[in-house]
Amino acid sequence: MKISVIGTGYLGATHAACLAELGHDVLGLDTDPLKVAALAEGELPFFEPGLAELLHRHVASGRLRFTTSYEEVGAWAEVHFLGVGTPQRQGEGSADTTFVEDAVRSLAETITRDALIVGKSTVPVGTAQRLGEILARHQDPSLKIGLAWNPEFLREGFAVQDTLRPDRIVVGVDDAANASTLRAVYSAADELGVPFIITDFETAELVKMAANAFLATKISFINAFSEITEAVGGDIQTLAAGLGLDERIGPKFLRAGLGFGGGCLPKDIRALQARASELGHERSMRFLAEVEGINLRRRERAVFLAASMLGELQGKKVAALGAAFKPDSDDVRDSPALDVAVRLFDAGADVSVYDPKANANASQRFPRLAYADSLSDAVADADLILLLTEWDEFRSLSPDTLAVLTPARKIVDARNVLIADQWTAAGWDFAALGRRHTPVPDYAPVSA
Ligand code: UDX
Repeated sequence: MKISVIGTGYLGATHAACLAELGHDVLGLDTDPLKVAALAEGELPFFEPGLAELLHRHVASGRLRFTTSYEEVGAWAEVHFLGVGTPQRQGEGSADTTFVEDAVRSLAETITRDALIVGKSTVPVGTAQRLGEILARHQDPSLKIGLAWNPEFLREGFAVQDTLRPDRIVVGVDDAANASTLRAVYSAADELGVPFIITDFETAELVKMAANAFLATKISFINAFSEITEAVGGDIQTLAAGLGLDERIGPKFLRAGLGFGGGCLPKDIRALQARASELGHERSMRFLAEVEGINLRRRERAVFLAASMLGELQGKKVAALGAAFKPDSDDVRDSPALDVAVRLFDAGADVSVYDPKANANASQRFPRLAYADSLSDAVADADLILLLTEWDEFRSLSPDTLAVLTPARKIVDARNVLIADQWTAAGWDFAALGRRHTPVPDYAPVSA
């Protein structure tokens, strides 16, 4: 099929390359000519495992092209996917839907053949209905242009896999024929037996919001218990294992630590609360304020542990391992790791940040921090080390190998990936989120 993808950011670029992989002819559109020029050369402007290869392959084969021209996509494609952003409004919790509205208006004004517009962006419930009205007002009335809502559930770091083999495909339509068109687009997934859920616009929009709200809640749930195990001396990892083995609960998203960040979960739970308020149901989503509160308190706790282990932060050298919001990503949007590094810096510490992929994005956002080119540079003269993003390079650290690189014998594992006993046995003052901090005798911290 001839398919356009409007917006070539994370979601759009991934979707476009994966549609080409599925055998479609794809034209990606972005209003940013620099981005289009780079993608047309097969250059991916962000890091995502496996995606650069797909992009390269399909640009070379000619099955994947890029443009800045709505006229070109409007005349050519039979299906148009919307992958533009819905950022948080400045100073508010609500989502800004200007970009999706602009995209639909531009498509309506330039489409010259029967076509289907399919929203993938995460939007407040009620947006698709409103976009349908914009479409009706601006389109050529002699054409049949449909609208469908097909939310995207991909995770960064697994974006290709999640797009090619999703857990489910949800499609919101007001006309069954549009669901059939999407079934044809996703015939490969259909053949793999991926569940295909057909529903109305509102339910489709809400499924995505509900999924992200649930994931955020599950993370904050286990992190709330971290606060209790820290107080009474339990172990959050064992608690999570005991909880997750209950089949009704499951082990995923029970990794206690520094909490969630990224371009989706934080903004989406805020947007959901804002939308519920607009609908007169503020109370239904009020628990999400607590979910966010728990999430932010984890960062405070990491800083508190650092301060108590060092006695004071002022003038102390701290190595912050990780800046990305999660491993296998160079994304630092709303990153808990980077936020902790900034908080330590603001408290007077001399912070050296090292992330295997995200240093460039982090230094663009927070140029006042110092960035090291390698793990060994970051820890070289550190007083304390904080493991803030669980990259493999950090998970595999052992007390013996690290001891060769640094004079520090104090470490905070903010992602619960190191084995505490190994570190304490080797004489390190070891602290982790979710267990009571018992310092080794030589390094008694200042009490709370
Ligand atoms: C999320 C959703 O998973 C995805 O379906 C949606 O389309 C976009 O938002 P993503 O932001 O890529 O995807 O990351 P995800 O893997 O969900 O992790 C989100 C955050 O939660 C990360 O900061 C991660 O470190 C944290 N997390 C995750 C935990 O702290 N504990 C866990 O057990 C799982």
